[in-house]
Amino acid sequence: MKEDFKFETLAVHAGSHPDEKTGALVEPVYMTSTFVFTPDKMERWLAGAPQEDEIIYTYSRSRNPSQVSLQEKIAALEHGEASLVTASGMSAITMAIMGHCKKGDHIISAQTIYGGTFGLFTHVLPEYGIDVTFVKDLTVESLEDAKNDNTKVIYFETIANPTLEIPEFDEIVDWAKKNNIKTVVDNTFTSPYLFKPLDWGIDTVVHSCTKYINGHGDLVGGVVVGSKDFCESLRKTEYMDIGPVPAPLNCYLMTRGLKTLHLRMERHCQNALAFANAMSKHPKIEKVIYPGLESNEYYNRALKYFNGFGGMVSFVINGGIEEAKKVIFSLKIGKPAVSLGDLDTLVEIPAIMTHGKVPKEEREKMGVKDGLIRVSVGIENIDDIICDFEQAFEKI
Ligand SMILES: Cc1ncc(COP(=O)(O)O)c(C=O)c1O
Repeated sequence: MKEDFKFETLAVHAGSHPDEKTGALVEPVYMTSTFVFTPDKMERWLAGAPQEDEIIYTYSRSRNPSQVSLQEKIAALEHGEASLVTASGMSAITMAIMGHCKKGDHIISAQTIYGGTFGLFTHVLPEYGIDVTFVKDLTVESLEDAKNDNTKVIYFETIANPTLEIPEFDEIVDWAKKNNIKTVVDNTFTSPYLFKPLDWGIDTVVHSCTKYINGHGDLVGGVVVGSKDFCESLRKTEYMDIGPVPAPLNCYLMTRGLKTLHLRMERHCQNALAFANAMSKHPKIEKVIYPGLESNEYYNRALKYFNGFGGMVSFVINGGIEEAKKVIFSLKIGKPAVSLGDLDTLVEIPAIMTHGKVPKEEREKMGVKDGLIRVSVGIENIDDIICDFEQAFEKI
């Protein structure tokens, strides 16, 4: 599909292939583990050099048409040459790191990242000989300090989970290119509708598709986006050998979810801004964190890079974990749950939920206070959402 179509058109059409056999507009879901060989197909497959872009399907751990359609759509929306979808966001991060690093290599990571990623970086990767240094602010000075001869990757999130910091992408990319280090960014909080990291020189993008990409809260998935060479080489090696492939039905659901990404994101952003403004006036809240508030230190950076401020709002209440629990369990619309980017408003306490396994000392370095509440603002009526929180605050 031509790249000069606008986002909304690509969201609906990219990767769509009406069924050749029946003309069905929506492709069938290819619920199959294997694909039958014919003598001719066998010969072409054995020759190993099919025509450019010809796909010979053999086994769904390697490739499946439902997966390929989704990959085409995500690549088009992210302005990437290619993408590789995975069974979860964590497996996408693992694949991206495996694609860039080997035993003995070193990664620089932003200090504030999703708790699961922090676990992968502190518990799993070191076991396989990959060390990670965490850096609070990704300034050139701190990157210089953290770098060593084996540094291969800088890893960060476009909007940090859960404290919503936004890095200076230009500065990081510039420094990384000069030092021959790859940049890997988690674009989950922004989605390609708000930000396309590859347009700004980032090498590899990952997503937890569980969130805005699918958007309907009914599956777990992930994706790696980047150059065709990178994705294809990953697919043929680590991906094939480890097998983090999503089910065809999940691929179909993500493809369907993506068709409305632009509409959903518009409403998430609109509701989040109104919610953040309303919460800013509340006497029981110490601090509201939302990049769309002019008082937020990342407001200008968000304006520079993003096509909107996102659907995530965090705030610190007057109190600690007990008070935070009282608030989230008093909500009637907002659901106390991890995850984000769903149609429903989801509310969580990072200190005991998404970042509960991060040691307290490290959590404090991330700026995750006990009274911090993270809200994934849904697409419900905004007045109802605000009233819901106001009545919950009366309980503390
Ligand atoms: C920013 C971010 N990246 C990655 C992940 C991991 O994704 P998944 O749960 O799909 O494995 C999460 C999960 O919450 C997340 O918030």
